[in-house]
Amino acid sequence: MTIRDDATESSAAAPERAPVEGPWVLPDVSGLVVGVLGGTGPQGKGLAYRLARAGQKVIIGSRAAERAQAAADELGHGVEGADNAECARRSDLVIVAVPWDGHGRTLESLREELAGKLVVDCVNPLGFDKQGAYALKPEEGSAAQQAAALLPHSRVTAAFHHLSAVLLQDPETEEIDTDVMVLGEVRADVEIVQALAGRIPGMRGVFAGRLRNAHQVESLVANLISVNRRYKAHAGLRVTDV
Ligand SMILES: NC(=O)c1ccc[n+]([C@@H]2O[C@H](COP(=O)([O-])OP(=O)(O)OC[C@H]3O[C@@H](n4cnc5c(N)ncnc54)[C@H](OP(=O)(O)O)[C@@H]3O)[C@@H](O)[C@H]2O)c1
Repeated sequence: MTIRDDATESSAAAPERAPVEGPWVLPDVSGLVVGVLGGTGPQGKGLAYRLARAGQKVIIGSRAAERAQAAADELGHGVEGADNAECARRSDLVIVAVPWDGHGRTLESLREELAGKLVVDCVNPLGFDKQGAYALKPEEGSAAQQAAALLPHSRVTAAFHHLSAVLLQDPETEEIDTDVMVLGEVRADVEIVQALAGRIPGMRGVFAGRLRNAHQVESLVANLISVNRRYKAHAGLRVTDV
């Protein structure tokens, strides 16, 4: 992966024809403030920890500011805590890590704070019964499409669905060996999220289509849960030949 130096690019004299950049030339995202809604849960806390450990400025969000503060204090690495609204307001990029149950209501209530922000949805709508986990089918098609419908003034993407919260939170784990499928409508936004995934050692962000194909990606977690149960593992995914 190559980091694109956007500042140099824009100040340089315009070439006759812009060079065609490969798909692995990604923007520098190290200066972005990342917020995590529902950042007090295992997934949000794990992502916050990994990103902060990689040098990213991270703000954990919660329905209660004091719970966010307690989680932030626990994580260290400069992580801050705030209620979800303040977390959204202060962040450039906001990861949605609340349960599917509270997804719609949470986003609807933060529509104003999330306007103009890059939103990264990692929510997997799943049901559980005696046979294990199974995919739910949201009315809008997927959690990501529900987010896009509820947040018309935000830039909605989807990513980080297949990560193990156990590995994310384990300080002994130096690298997380997995690809992150990133979906979205606007290439520049997808590339920012790919670059963010790439900040975590071992991870690579791979473009995986538009939001209309998010349902399969969200649903695949039901299969990974089956894998993890059978093999007592924290399975990740690799996309080969790219
Ligand atoms: N766990 C994983 O390994 C994993 C992996 C990939 C993706 N995900 C996805 O990431 C999301 C979070 O997973 P998790 O295991 O961390 O979930 P969780 O612990 O159940 O929830 C995360 C946080 O969301 C807040 N919350 C709970 N109920 C809520 C509601 N009704 N409305 C708004 N906020 C609510 C809580 O924080 P406060 O009480 O502090 O507000 C909670 O700590 C899920 O949608 C899941 O599908 C999880």
